[in-house]
Amino acid sequence: MMDNSTLVLFGARGNLARVKLIPGLFHLDEAGKLPENMKILSVGRQKVNEDVWHSDIKKMLDEKFKSYDKKVFDRFIKRNLYHANLPDDPEAFIKFAKRLGNKEVFPQNHAFFLSVRPSDFSLIVDQLSGVGLLDESEFWRRVLIEKPFGTCLKTAIELQSSIEKHLKESQIYRIDHYLGKFSLQNIMTTRFSNTILEPLWSSTHIEQIQITNHETLGVGDRTVFYEATGALRDMIQSHLLQMLALVTMEKPKSMSPEDVRSEKVKLLESISTIPLEKISEHAFRGQYAAGEIDGESVKGYLDEVENVNSVVETYAAVKLFIENSRWKNVPIYLRTAKRLYENSTSVAIKFKNSNNWLTINIQPNETTSFEFTTLKPGLDMSDNRQTSLKGNNRIEGDETIDAYETLMLDLLSGDQSKFLHIDEVKAAWKLVDPIINYWVNDKTRPTQYKPGEFDPEESKIIFENDDQFWKR
Ligand code: BG6
Repeated sequence: MMDNSTLVLFGARGNLARVKLIPGLFHLDEAGKLPENMKILSVGRQKVNEDVWHSDIKKMLDEKFKSYDKKVFDRFIKRNLYHANLPDDPEAFIKFAKRLGNKEVFPQNHAFFLSVRPSDFSLIVDQLSGVGLLDESEFWRRVLIEKPFGTCLKTAIELQSSIEKHLKESQIYRIDHYLGKFSLQNIMTTRFSNTILEPLWSSTHIEQIQITNHETLGVGDRTVFYEATGALRDMIQSHLLQMLALVTMEKPKSMSPEDVRSEKVKLLESISTIPLEKISEHAFRGQYAAGEIDGESVKGYLDEVENVNSVVETYAAVKLFIENSRWKNVPIYLRTAKRLYENSTSVAIKFKNSNNWLTINIQPNETTSFEFTTLKPGLDMSDNRQTSLKGNNRIEGDETIDAYETLMLDLLSGDQSKFLHIDEVKAAWKLVDPIINYWVNDKTRPTQYKPGEFDPEESKIIFENDDQFWKR
């Protein structure tokens, strides 16, 4: 049974809250997964009357769902309250604490979801602590921090030292929403519940691993964020390294948060940092040019950000090696891109001396496939072809629950296993920092690539040998 609690949503008028969090909470309510008296207190900078906030919520739901049950809607609306609060105003926090302290209205276990500008994370934690809201002597108090946790190792450490003055590790929920995706959790089940895989899962049999995230969309209206971030920080430091960890870590002693996270930390810390003189053979960057995608003309990245000198990458590919006995000398290729030919996230594993690929598709298809060689029917006994065995990891009628919904439930029930430990965050920054620094100082401009096409040819520079290719 989940405790009754109040979910406090800082940044409730932002895009994430409107598109994912509030509709996600409604979906959870509809599925009967929220405790009866749970409250949702949305906090934003602007003053908004509660009726106006409620009609705003209705708008969010109308945009997201074709129809919904009136009874559930009424119940959901009753849970929702609004509070205007500026993050840098200590007086306002005193009022806020007073309101939240009203036991008649708000359950006293509090989960603070900070979906705010990264520069406000430590400020809000300071303020919450200042008014006693992080004190766990009677009730639990948890803080969820949206991505990115820092922008490099140094700033991640700074953020950590600032918040750990007020919070224990068990109170901090660092999000990587990919861990809330069913298909990522399924990587562990696929590996550890199928005895045929374990004996093959090492450098003895595996030649290479490719971890891919391709999107057809461009950066859209997130130009300021993206100019300060780039694909390496945005996707590789977080989501792709997490996938890598799940695919290659040792089997945890148990599925407890401590055991799972400690295996991921061990793995991430055993990936070799790329030496400076080797970065150009291990990492490649590109930028999308203007062109056409799905019959529509689209602007190039430089045009979108109105900065012809930008060297920020919208395509990044990196080759990494893990320094342990299981994975020695197995290249692991990570690639991510905006404006490529398809939306697709996958893990593809190639076995040695064969055309065998095992592919776990994360999204949009949730399938696992195995490619192997068979004899083509006919008289020619040397005429072989590739066959694929494909299994659906989702079938009609299966529960659909969005990554953020899963993570909000975990936050409310106190399960940290799908959240990042600070040591994972640090290990990930240690790996990407040298590449970012190298690119900042590199005078060669990112390769321009055409929207809607396959990976730029030039990206193949990171392959170990000429026989390798990007798996489609
Ligand atoms: C976010 C990145 O973390 O993940 C975005 O900031 C990216 O740039 C998004 O588009 C992808 O998430 P999903 O769940 O749509 O694959």
